Amino acid sequence: MGWGTGWGWFKPQPEPLPQPPAREFLLVPVHLLRTLNAACCDGRAEARPSGAGATRADQLSASTPTCYAPAMKFIPMTPELYDYMVRHGHNGDPLLAELARETEVLGPIAMMQIAPEQGTLMSNLARAIGARHAVEIGTFTGYSSICIARGLPRDGKLLCCDINEEWTGIARKYWAKAGLTERIELRLAPALETLEKLPANHTVDFAFIDADKVSYRDYYEALLPRLRPNGLILFDNVLWQGHVLDRNTQSDDTRALQALNDHIARDQRVQAVMIAVSDGLTIVRKRAPDER
Ligand SMILES: C[S@@+](CC[C@H](N)C(=O)[O-])C[C@H]1O[C@@H](n2cnc3c(N)ncnc32)[C@H](O)[C@@H]1O
Repeated sequence: MGWGTGWGWFKPQPEPLPQPPAREFLLVPVHLLRTLNAACCDGRAEARPSGAGATRADQLSASTPTCYAPAMKFIPMTPELYDYMVRHGHNGDPLLAELARETEVLGPIAMMQIAPEQGTLMSNLARAIGARHAVEIGTFTGYSSICIARGLPRDGKLLCCDINEEWTGIARKYWAKAGLTERIELRLAPALETLEKLPANHTVDFAFIDADKVSYRDYYEALLPRLRPNGLILFDNVLWQGHVLDRNTQSDDTRALQALNDHIARDQRVQAVMIAVSDGLTIVRKRAPDER
């Protein structure tokens, strides 16, 4: 099935984009990439391929004058390196560790909880942009909500959207332990309904989307008009354990994430960056009106 068929729920449909071979970046000799990267970054050459050799990412970024040499800029993660990174990347927190342990008792579903470094990143981002009003879609047992709420001022508000009473019961317990009960409001209903019921003047500074993948784009479009200029929307699981590269996927979740990622990469209303934190995190910043 091509990109143009079977996507009736997704409007407007994206232009078909060629898909790179999965290992394309790994097969490029490193010395060549170093040369290209150096030339590109000192302005001597354009490292981004074009024409028949262009990748999907090249096409998406074809109109921007950015340097593009991806294989140079990541290192494979190992358990030891990850452990090192987490130990050095955030301060640790006994309450969050206790919550993680209690969540583990739920079994494999505990995998849904965000990673600790992701939580610290979100606290820092919320604090750095001076967020006061935040929204979370997908609360589960509360880990990410605590991290976001801690990034808000005392009189800030986090609106949490979820549909599961049992899991959010654990979240409520930990909000109380963290002294955050006043800062967080939980609405138990499908998140889209909750967003649609918000008053027209309810603006949002920071949002985190981590629930049903097929609705991510609807959440995005419902939140973006409410987001203040330079506000942030974060999307979890945007790499979907690498399945986003599978062009022949039959999975609705994977297709939804592929469509969302393509949509955001083209969306001139925002500046977005996708980073390899945990299962992939996209950070979208709404452009200010006078920015372009
Ligand atoms: C991946 S978990 C969220 C993990 C959480 N952010 C954390 O850090 O622990 C996804 C959550 O989304 C909720 N969810 C699924 N579909 C939903 C919907 N339509 N509206 C609101 N919440 C939904 C689930 O009940 C679940 O708690």
